[in-house]
Amino acid sequence: MIGTNKIKTAVFISGTGSNLKALYKFSLKKKSPIKINLVISNYKNAKGLLFSKKKKINTKIFNFNKMILIENKILKELKKRKIKLICLAGFMKILSKNFIKKFKGKIINIHPSLLPKYKGLNTHQRAIHNKDKFSGCTVHFVNQKLDSGKIILQKKVKILKLDTSKSLAKRILKEEHKLFPKAIMKMYS
Ligand code: GRF
Repeated sequence: MIGTNKIKTAVFISGTGSNLKALYKFSLKKKSPIKINLVISNYKNAKGLLFSKKKKINTKIFNFNKMILIENKILKELKKRKIKLICLAGFMKILSKNFIKKFKGKIINIHPSLLPKYKGLNTHQRAIHNKDKFSGCTVHFVNQKLDSGKIILQKKVKILKLDTSKSLAKRILKEEHKLFPKAIMKMYS
């Protein structure tokens, strides 16, 4: 697909932005249906912002403490840039019901567990603690309940005997980087 025909996409981040990087790399491929036009962060020191600046992607930082006010500003920004897809990539804030309603079916999230197991935080720790044999990652649509929207794709990752939450997180993150683009391909195929 040529750049101008691609789906204008915003990526929301809060931290390192390794998923953002993977999505960006994917977006440059001819087969990719998306183009990343905007990166939004709730945290001004998010490492991922350095990457987006380096790649000259428009970036915006919003202080989510004033939720409603900020969301209205974001909605304006998304409208201005004709954004049609939002990818939450390690975005640690919960969007309001109103915001999600306005972008219904157009917000997707990556979550480091095999949903519906382990919604919320500390997923790896919980999977290890429960002696699960597998964990993994999920890309899903965002609806008004936390980590509960329709699943697009999942990838299983084996939990090893000596795994710590850190080592497991690292292996799952690698799979996240592949799963997010794959899920987007599936959505638009
Ligand atoms: C990922 O594991 C994501 O699933 C989780 O936070 C992590 C973010 O990593 N919600 P990064 O910022 O994309 O490197």
